[in-house]
Amino acid sequence: MEDSHADQDVHADRRASAAARLGATGADGLVCFPGRNLQYLTGFDEAPAERHLFLVVPAADREGDATVTDPTFLVPSLYETQVRADTSVESVRTWDDGDDPTAAVRALLGDCGLREGRLLVDDTMWATFTQDLRTAAPEASWGLASEALGALRVRKDAAELDAMRAAAAAADRTVEDLRELGADAVGMTERELADWVADRLAAHGGSGTSFDTIVAAGPNGAKPHHGCGDREVRAGEPVVLDFGTRVDGYPSDQTRTLVFDGEPPAAYRRVHEAVREAQAAAVEAVEPGVTAGSIDRAARAVIESAGYGDAFVHRTGHGVGLDVHEEPYIVADSDRTLEPGMVFSVEPGVYLDGEFGCRIEDLVVVTDDGCERLNDTDRGWR
Ligand code: GLY
Ligand code: MN
Ligand code: MN
Repeated sequence: MEDSHADQDVHADRRASAAARLGATGADGLVCFPGRNLQYLTGFDEAPAERHLFLVVPAADREGDATVTDPTFLVPSLYETQVRADTSVESVRTWDDGDDPTAAVRALLGDCGLREGRLLVDDTMWATFTQDLRTAAPEASWGLASEALGALRVRKDAAELDAMRAAAAAADRTVEDLRELGADAVGMTERELADWVADRLAAHGGSGTSFDTIVAAGPNGAKPHHGCGDREVRAGEPVVLDFGTRVDGYPSDQTRTLVFDGEPPAAYRRVHEAVREAQAAAVEAVEPGVTAGSIDRAARAVIESAGYGDAFVHRTGHGVGLDVHEEPYIVADSDRTLEPGMVFSVEPGVYLDGEFGCRIEDLVVVTDDGCERLNDTDRGWR
């Protein structure tokens, strides 16, 4: 991913914040691997692969005789040009195919003074690489990157929020296209409709889909993470449509449950009304200083009083950032306090096995005095 100069400053600032937080959390260093943490710290956005590719971030202000104190990439030689061009990390080491990568890792950790002490590794690092790190630093103790980076990533800055607003708008406009499609959707398979959604998301400025699109027609909607298959959409049946796209690397995640033609069962009208009220009550409850658990309870209370409590089989929401599912999780009993800049989904649902499902999902950002909805399109079923 090509970065602008402004982005590079953002990434350098984030690396400095990460180095400072490492010390504050009692860690000596951090080892990142291709994934969202590395993207957050450098802008480098590659899928993980079998070659050793790490960013080592030593904690700020450590005492000792380390010769390397700056964040340093260790990359296969074929990536050198790319990381130098696309990131602002100045310290880059390479290893060649045919070399022993573990020896290169051992040398870098040694130069950073990190063959002992407490090292954090990316939460999603492949086990094969964590094993090599243990071999390279047998005296070290280990923790997870989220211990230090979680508090940084959970509050979104202005540029991150702008990207997420744009991604949410692309999803909103796609929902509006779906409403216009109306009866023409009847007879399309779930998979055809998912492809159609992908085209519309791209037409509205999105890049790809942020997760596998869910188009769950009729009884398939009772499986909250159904995906999509060969079932054809029928008149009068609710279809759960859960999808998102990315803008500047940041995703949207939105659900509407629509009936494309005809009249749904009476039970569906009652369920949809309960889910809609639950979603509104939960959004209404969002403000800084309240707990994530209180938002879950606000949604759950409405659905329970409508008689569908047992059919609301998941948490009310999840944080959204570079990862589509991340902190804060909006789950019963969470005492995590909401802070301005946190972005999460509010997505109550009711799932009636063999009949249908209904979920309504929007993203919200916590503001200084309440919350802003990132999605604002109609939540009705028609
Ligand atoms: N779609 C609901 C969840 O994964 O929490
Ligand atoms: Mn979703
Ligand atoms: Mn979601």
